[in-house]
Amino acid sequence: MRTALVCGAGGFIGGHLVKRLKAEGFWVRGVDLKFNEHAETAADDFVIGDLRDGNFCRSVVDRKFDEVYQLAADMGGAGYIFTGEHDADIMHNSALINLNMIEALRKRQNRNIFYSSSACMYPAHNQEDPENPNCVEDSAYPAAPDSEYGWEKLFSERLYLSFNRNYNMRCRVARYHNIFGPEGTWTGGKEKAPAAICRKVASARSGESIDIWGDGNQTRSFLYIDQCLEGTIRLLRSDFEGPVNIGSEEMVTINQLVDIVSEIAGKRLHKNHIPGPIGVRGRNSDNNLIRKKLDWSPSEPLIKGLERTYAWIEGRVRANS
Ligand code: NAD
Ligand code: GDD
Repeated sequence: MRTALVCGAGGFIGGHLVKRLKAEGFWVRGVDLKFNEHAETAADDFVIGDLRDGNFCRSVVDRKFDEVYQLAADMGGAGYIFTGEHDADIMHNSALINLNMIEALRKRQNRNIFYSSSACMYPAHNQEDPENPNCVEDSAYPAAPDSEYGWEKLFSERLYLSFNRNYNMRCRVARYHNIFGPEGTWTGGKEKAPAAICRKVASARSGESIDIWGDGNQTRSFLYIDQCLEGTIRLLRSDFEGPVNIGSEEMVTINQLVDIVSEIAGKRLHKNHIPGPIGVRGRNSDNNLIRKKLDWSPSEPLIKGLERTYAWIEGRVRANS
């Protein structure tokens, strides 16, 4: 039976990935600081512990897995990574996880490793025009991310790729662009725009107004979880090491995102634009490289994933009211 290790399995993407690997017939070990809050884990073995601790990393890497997915990180949406209040923790925690994990994996001859970087590593100066952001993979250098979260991702990308060169490993690096879906963080301060907007729309009555950070003209693209997993698995099983974007090319303004979710909900809402953490003015995935290297790219329209996500978050809002 094929085996997989999923670090960050108690999180959003990790939780879904475990389900996907189980459906493919893998024996799966999940590792996290916590269980997933929203769903029972599908993992055969779920180990609770802290991947900042090198001894703990060595204990969970007690064998050679067929596939390893390193998703554990100290992360959140704009309300977490752009305020500046968590910079030291983000850099320290995530760098330690990656430094300890790669060494533990090398020692046990684990070679097939996926690492989730982020679009936040792209230079801020290429994302100032909301209508024409540049997120082509080779625009990464000279580096100038706008957050410490992005700098740590850039460092860790280089860490994994250096182990490929010096230790003959097969690390694969993807740069995720804002992944969303059911069972993701939807409240508490770490939620990203799709979940936050779904929650605000679900909590409001028709005719009321909801708060939107900034003028709403900032752009993003959002990728549904199933498409993210498809790209992730295809990349790990391919001959291409990356880094490569895994994201949607369907760029929308945050105001448009609000309009789409309001329409799904059947509500007429006013937008109350307030100051808040904004991040870059524009961001969109560029999928030329993934199409070329994997002969695949995400294709599902944004609205499909938003319909599923809104239904799930509306259920949570209702259950909590
Ligand atoms: P998430 O926060 O839901 O999952 C991350 C998990 O890592 C959490 O469950 C957390 O408890 C765990 N973790 C953190 N520190 C740990 C530690 N010291 N030891 C053990 N576990 C620890 O986030 P996600 O959305 O599932 O993201 C997964 C990965 O993808 C992360 O590396 C993230 O930076 C990256 N990424 C995500 C997005 C996105 O839009 N979701 C975008 C770009 C990159
Ligand atoms: N979270 C949130 N909540 N964002 C809002 C809100 C709100 O209520 N209202 C407006 N926004 C705006 C933010 O100000 C930002 O400009 C935009 O929506 C997108 O915010 P997020 O989805 O929170 O984050 P991001 O796209 O800037 O960064 C995310 O994606 C990266 C990858 O592309 C983060 O999740 C990063 O961690 C991730 O790496």
